[in-house]
Order: sequence, then C-alpha cells, then structure tokens
Amino acid sequence: MDLQLKNKRAFVSGSTGGIGLAIAKVLVAEGAEVILNGRTQARIDQAIARLSSEVSGAKLRGIPADFADPASVESLLDKLGSVDILINNVGIFTSQSFADTSDADWYQMFEVNVMSGVRLSRAVLPGMLKRNWGRILFVSSECAMLVPEDLIAYSTTKAAMLAVSRGLAQTTKGSAVTVNAVLPGSTLSEGAERFLQTVAENEQISEKEVAENFFKNVRTSSLIQRFTSTEEIANTLAYLCSPLASATNGAAIKLEGGSVPGIL
Ligand SMILES: NC(=O)c1ccc[n+]([C@@H]2O[C@H](COP(=O)([O-])OP(=O)(O)OC[C@H]3O[C@@H](n4cnc5c(N)ncnc54)[C@H](OP(=O)(O)O)[C@@H]3O)[C@@H](O)[C@H]2O)c1
Repeated sequence: MDLQLKNKRAFVSGSTGGIGLAIAKVLVAEGAEVILNGRTQARIDQAIARLSSEVSGAKLRGIPADFADPASVESLLDKLGSVDILINNVGIFTSQSFADTSDADWYQMFEVNVMSGVRLSRAVLPGMLKRNWGRILFVSSECAMLVPEDLIAYSTTKAAMLAVSRGLAQTTKGSAVTVNAVLPGSTLSEGAERFLQTVAENEQISEKEVAENFFKNVRTSSLIQRFTSTEEIANTLAYLCSPLASATNGAAIKLEGGSVPGIL
C-alpha cells in the first residue's frame, strides 16, 4: 500500500532509538523527509548513518534538543520550520513508589512527556491549519488507562497527553488536519531490552523467562502475552500519518495487545 507520504516533512521527537527510530524508518522508506531528534548530535549522526544504510535515498536530518530543558526546546523551535507531520514520541519513565517520587521527578516527567508535545504542537499546528493539511500524533501508553502503582507519575503524564491530543483535535474542525494519540503496550525498545537484561542478570534467569514472567505475573491482562516490536507500533503510526487515515481525528488508538480491558 502506498501511504502517499512522498515529500511530506516529518519531525519525530526522541527518534535516535526505540519507537521513534522505527517510525522514522517507515516514514523515510515511504519517501518522507524526516527530522530526527535526540539529546546529542552524536546520537543523531549514528541514527542517520544507520537509517541511510537501511533505506536507500533516505531523506534525513536532525536537530538535537533536550526536552527536559525549556531553553533547549526554544532553540529547537527556532530551527524547526514548517512540518507536515509531528510525532510527539519522546517520553521517559521511572518505576518507583508514589512515596519516593519527588516533586522534581513529577516536574521532569511532565516537562519531557507532556510539555514537549504542547510546545511542538503550539509551534506547528497554526501552519498546518493554514496549509489545510497536517498530522499530529501523541505516543501515549497503556499506562494512561492501567495506571500501574509503580508508575503513577508516568501514567498521569500519559493520560494528560490524551487530553491535549483530543483538545487539539477539536481545534481542527472542518480542516484536513488530524490529531490523534496511540497507546502502545510493553514494547521491546532499547529501554525495555535493558530492563530485561538487568532483571535477568539479577535473578540469574534468561531474558526470555523474564519476559514470560512479566506477562504471567505483572501484565496479566495482555491478550497477546508478549512484548510488541517497535516496528509493530511504527506501522500503525505510519498509517495514521497518511492521507489515507483522513477519517480518524481526535482518537486514542490502542496498540497494547489487548491489555486494557473493554471494547473501546
Ligand atoms: N517501550 C515501551 O514499552 C513503551 C510502552 C508504551 C509507551 N511508550 C512510549 O513510547 C515513547 C517512546 O518510548 P521508547 O521505549 O521507544 O523510548 P526509548 O527506547 O527509551 O527511546 C528513547 C529516545 O528518546 C530520546 N530521549 C530521551 N530523553 C530525551 C530528552 N530529554 N530529550 C530528547 N530526547 C530524549 C533518546 O534520545 P538520546 O538518548 O539520543 O538523547 C531516544 O531517541 C515514549 O513516549 C514512551 O512513553 C513506550
């Protein structure tokens, strides 16, 4: 299927690894120009080298910025210019008890997970509305609905992203701009791989067993009972970026393998 993304310009926050890198790869393979982002130029250069070797003719550049630092985001916005597709993907999480989560932890997670998308959307949405085409996607999480007790701050930011996404969609009424959110479940990004390795080392068992135990004991509600790949998430994101997805606006799409109970 041709996703009709040739020559569209996309910015993906947090795209030197994980889900962000996977979506960047699908978009460049579809002929879009992608602006990558991570905290350092070195990691961006690595990601550009990797994607250029995997996709011939990949149109890529990058803008480093740290979304925990508003001044760094300001400088990114000065360089960004107009984009047709914005993917608010950057996100951080820490597994910790509510009691141990300090104000500073809450504010940092809010800054990176929520204010990143707020600031980027505020910068690019007016241009999209003026040109009467655009796609904004928020990468939320199943945690917005499951709210695991060791991830209350993270889950709160992911629920806030749903409200920002829906609210912005309401400002697109009558235009061909859409704003949607996706809710991935446990996904094998680099961060998740590191988590599996650490637990495997600590518990002296294989990473496969750690993953199986996670679904047996923790994410028991998952219907697929496995981690999704970053590519599985990226494929749906790429479709939602496409002109073909024009009837989906203001939606929150579950990509969590059925872990969130209920039909909708
Ligand atoms: N993996 C999961 O299981 C899962 C599940 C549900 C939802 N999600 C959501 O999916 C999104 C992507 O997650 P992921 O697991 O793919 O992440 P990841 O593997 O941890 O990827 C991290 C990416 O974010 C960048 N990054 C981290 N902190 C940054 C900051 N302060 N400023 C700018 N860039 C920063 C990193 O760039 P540098 O290191 O180069 O700076 C890297 O490109 C997040 O919003 C996450 O909440 C993930």
